[in-house]
Amino acid sequence: MTLQRTRPDLPSNDKRWKLVNAAMRRNGYAGHALIEALHAVQDAFGFLDEEAMTFVADSLDLPLSKVYGVATFYHLFMLKPQGRHACVVCTGTACYIKGASALIEGVQERFGVAPGETTADKSLSVLSARCVGACGLAPAVVLDGNVIGRLGPAQLCERLEQEIAE
Ligand code: FES
Repeated sequence: MTLQRTRPDLPSNDKRWKLVNAAMRRNGYAGHALIEALHAVQDAFGFLDEEAMTFVADSLDLPLSKVYGVATFYHLFMLKPQGRHACVVCTGTACYIKGASALIEGVQERFGVAPGETTADKSLSVLSARCVGACGLAPAVVLDGNVIGRLGPAQLCERLEQEIAE
């Protein structure tokens, strides 16, 4: 008889955790699939934070230190950004078709930061993700953990200005 290890619960009902979990399931939750799991987190959230790394470590039954080690060793992984506000622009297919690049250009023009960068005053970090699981709201943006959709570049910049001003 094989004993089934219990998997940790998803950290929240945010649909993006399901995408991450599905990627780990595809690899049978094997420890060697760690890099792919971290890619799945970054694709869904735009960056890796402690909550995500803990979830991956628990799911794959690996020590958290190992997950941190891999996440910080490879430069392609982006750790949680430094800005007070984080704006993740989805550049997945559905969002791309609906104008994700115009959003990125608009934000870059207004705030001077491209995905992966933080403003000098640390008020805003901009990131990109490959599908945040809200294709119906394309182009989707996740602002401080909340999905907002169907905004044009001007509306998004206005929204960001309001958030920063608060
Ligand atoms: S492609 Fe943007 S939410 Fe899916």
